[in-house]
Amino acid sequence: MKVGVFDSGIGGLTVVKSMLEHELFEEIIYFGDTARVPYGIKDKNTIIRYAIEAVEFFKNFELSLIIVACNTVSAYALDEMRESSNCPVIGVVEAGALATANALKNKQSNILILGTNATINSKAYEKNLNKLGFNNLQAKATGLFVPLVEEKIYSGDILEATFEHYFKEMQTPDAIILGCTHFPIILPALQNYFDKGTIFIHSGEAIVEYLEKKFDFTRKYKEPTLKFFASENPDALKKIASAWLPI
Ligand code: DGL
Repeated sequence: MKVGVFDSGIGGLTVVKSMLEHELFEEIIYFGDTARVPYGIKDKNTIIRYAIEAVEFFKNFELSLIIVACNTVSAYALDEMRESSNCPVIGVVEAGALATANALKNKQSNILILGTNATINSKAYEKNLNKLGFNNLQAKATGLFVPLVEEKIYSGDILEATFEHYFKEMQTPDAIILGCTHFPIILPALQNYFDKGTIFIHSGEAIVEYLEKKFDFTRKYKEPTLKFFASENPDALKKIASAWLPI
């Protein structure tokens, strides 16, 4: 299978990492809209317009599937992307909600949803989780994590201060949804901050779980072809890919 992975920038590489670890695809075409990131502070119409442009870009390749690694795009633009795409389009929000439901036995469990301003405002995770019978939800827009990760701040005082800023008054959750591509990068710091028993849901792992249930993957691809495209400075994207991915 040849798959396109779309993100607003570099963050979607965390999803590619999970895809590579599970060896599902023969070829992965990654497109990061690095010229226009961040999407998480933009409005719905802009996010939809950019997402449709990404679908147009992917028409240059004969893809079996487009995976939207970006939570913000998954929250707002999946229907419109599907309308203009000639292959299936799947997003991380539905997959993340399903992975959360699978990880939690008790429907009363408290779930904390983290994401960009746009993702949190969309209430997309809440809608999916409510359908699955989970109603004990808290949500927090933690947009500051995005520039911190881009600045390679993955631990230390500045990050700890943002944790205090965002979480000091929060009830300790049973599960935390990392509803943004960048957040898995600071997972060790988040694990350190929260209770030992808190479960973390990672978009990359969630999408792999979703794909394995939905499609029949009979072959493993140990050395898939990887192609990286960016709307600005593709070399910077490739450099980060070398640092974050096992390539
Ligand atoms: N990729 C975005 C997401 O997962 C985070 C970065 C942005 O704001 O564009 O929501």
